[in-house]
Amino acid sequence: MSFPWAQQYEPKNGLTKFLDEKLPLPRLVYNAVGAGYPVPRNLSYFWNFGVLAGFCLVLQIVTGVVLAMHYAPNTLVAFDSTEHIMRNVNWGWLMRYAHANGASAFFVVVYIHIFRGLYYSSYKAPREMIWLLGVVIFLLMMATAFMGYVLPWGQMSYWGAKVITGLFGAIPLVGEGIQNWLLGGFAPDNAALNRFFSLHFLLPFVIAGVVILHIWALHIPGSSNPTGVEVKKESDTLPFHPYYTAKDGFGLGVFLIIYFAFVFFMPNALGHPDNYIPANPLSTPANIVPEWYFWPFYAILRAFTADFFFVPAKLMGVLAMFASILVWFFLPWLDKSPVRSGHYRPLFRKFFWFGLIPAIVVLGYCGGAHLSTTTILLSQIFTAYYFLHFLVILPIISLIERPEPMPYSITEAVLGHDPDSKLGPKPTTASPAKA
Ligand code: HEM
Repeated sequence: MSFPWAQQYEPKNGLTKFLDEKLPLPRLVYNAVGAGYPVPRNLSYFWNFGVLAGFCLVLQIVTGVVLAMHYAPNTLVAFDSTEHIMRNVNWGWLMRYAHANGASAFFVVVYIHIFRGLYYSSYKAPREMIWLLGVVIFLLMMATAFMGYVLPWGQMSYWGAKVITGLFGAIPLVGEGIQNWLLGGFAPDNAALNRFFSLHFLLPFVIAGVVILHIWALHIPGSSNPTGVEVKKESDTLPFHPYYTAKDGFGLGVFLIIYFAFVFFMPNALGHPDNYIPANPLSTPANIVPEWYFWPFYAILRAFTADFFFVPAKLMGVLAMFASILVWFFLPWLDKSPVRSGHYRPLFRKFFWFGLIPAIVVLGYCGGAHLSTTTILLSQIFTAYYFLHFLVILPIISLIERPEPMPYSITEAVLGHDPDSKLGPKPTTASPAKA
């Protein structure tokens, strides 16, 4: 939103005047992430993660393009070309470790970004479009990461590709045809590896395009904030630059320390040792597991063990796994509470911290563990809770909950008082405040 008090861009020298007339890029930057973009003054560090996600995307594209210069997408040499990068290419080991750990870092950052959105209900009007585009980005990220993991053509690459493309085989009648079409053959081989490489290269640029739409959509209502109360006046905001450029810079520094600790000191901690064994279609690994960031979804897939009338268990697992993300598309309409922030929603908060988060953690554990009766049972219980949470508990809470008193404005939330408050002193009885 362009607030009336936003600072106006003024070109200062000949070059910026020339550019402003011909291609007003500096004006665009000034109004998007500069002093011309007023932002709520109370944003916490949780609001750093969008920028960090953008940084991770750039990091993955830059390191990925360099890796692609030396990688060979052919099943006969893919594994060796990856080792060649690690051993012979100057700084190749750094590029590979930076890229592999960059994928994990990207998911950590995006998961925090998503859960920030879930806790502060950033998906609610007027920010539905930002959220919907975010879910599209997440789906694209999953596809990209899955295809990237196939490229080194290790054991987990091969068997991961086989299991995941095999899921499509569960679709009645057309499943096998779709599976063969996706692979370009009856099993993962050269055709599959080639197309996965091609798409793994392409999709990050598609993600970058959707990120531009995501940020464009963000600039229409502007950022939400930890209180969920909308900006009312100038004293509720600060210019993005220098306040949030500094805060984001600090956040980036902390992120880089943790990220480089992994890259330099434990680069294989998050990977699977079996992927250092060349792919062998004749030897199935004891436990086929995807990368850690897919574990909760993998647990949902494996939670279905018995056919239901004519619906095979495998098909139900596949549908549930996709549904577990697709349900996020409907959140803006499932949660009807007029209050956004979890800070002021006592019931919502309890179910968030003691229901949803533990359910996802347990599902994550089950997805990475060896299959056993215990992990299957836990996966079934927490898959049921996961869907109940979004489809039943959240809508009911949003109708029956009595929210806690909210500040009149962002200014009041920060300073403890706001001379403009029309409500007089801060209300002490619970009342759903209009955000
Ligand atoms: C490449 C991935 C992504 C990038 C680069 C990105 C970037 C950003 C940026 C820069 C912001 C503004 C700063 C902030 O609020 O943190 C933002 C806000 C937001 N993003 Fe993302 N995002 C990504 C993925 C996602 C995903 C996967 C979702 C949800 C499924 C999502 C949902 C949102 C929402 C709802 C907001 C508004 C938050 C608010 O104002 O309260 N984003 N994003």
